[in-house]
Amino acid sequence: MRLGVNIDHVATVREARKINEPDPVAAAVIVELAGADGIVCHLREDRRHLSDRDFVLLKEVVKSHLNLEMAATPEMIKIASRVQPDMATLVPEKRQEITTEGGLDVVNNLDLIKDTVMKLRTSNIIVSLFINPDLEQIKASARAGTDYVELHTGRYAEASSANEQEEELSTLQSMAYAAAKLGLSVSAGHGLNYYNVQGIAKLDKIEELNIGHSIIGRAIFTGLEAAVREMKRLISE
Ligand code: PXP
Repeated sequence: MRLGVNIDHVATVREARKINEPDPVAAAVIVELAGADGIVCHLREDRRHLSDRDFVLLKEVVKSHLNLEMAATPEMIKIASRVQPDMATLVPEKRQEITTEGGLDVVNNLDLIKDTVMKLRTSNIIVSLFINPDLEQIKASARAGTDYVELHTGRYAEASSANEQEEELSTLQSMAYAAAKLGLSVSAGHGLNYYNVQGIAKLDKIEELNIGHSIIGRAIFTGLEAAVREMKRLISE
């Protein structure tokens, strides 16, 4: 199972001072050297952490795999098509939210999502849709023509008992099978950390985990390289 590391939080620290460090581009280099399989970044409409400059430089510097999280807007489609990340993950975006709170509602926005997927794929960008582990959303995602779905693991991460956690795992597993049966590749992420990642890492059909907050948070204490290596070890164990 591959590990994609989301480096937005490095830019969040930089933006707390509005200066030029710490640099998320430097972070991406260290993350790759530590064994991550890809870099994930989210260019938000309000540019609250990652900037256009960061994204362009990441495209130059990242050797493994660059995944851009983006809203399905004309501005972002234009930027993605110009810069050409390896993958674009469509996420819902609300200005007030602290992080991406829920999955994309593909069922109720099928025309817009389908059109966005088509435009990105025409630019030779692999497309992923970040959705809740829900059968109707998976079916709509297949209809939208996406390559991947990324299953939102937030409910699993926030489960308050072992039973609830098992239930969420079982839902994630059956949704991963359902997506694979429809010909979709599957990744997962959100809220995964050093204590809950192994439950997800043992599931079938999930090719990649995308993890940000817990890795960058641990890096404050252990350094970024050690934080990435430890997560990679837990996933492959
Ligand atoms: N995947 C997607 C689509 C996300 O939006 C995020 C958060 O930026 C993540 C994965 C990583 O979540 P976390 O920071 O909780 O590990």
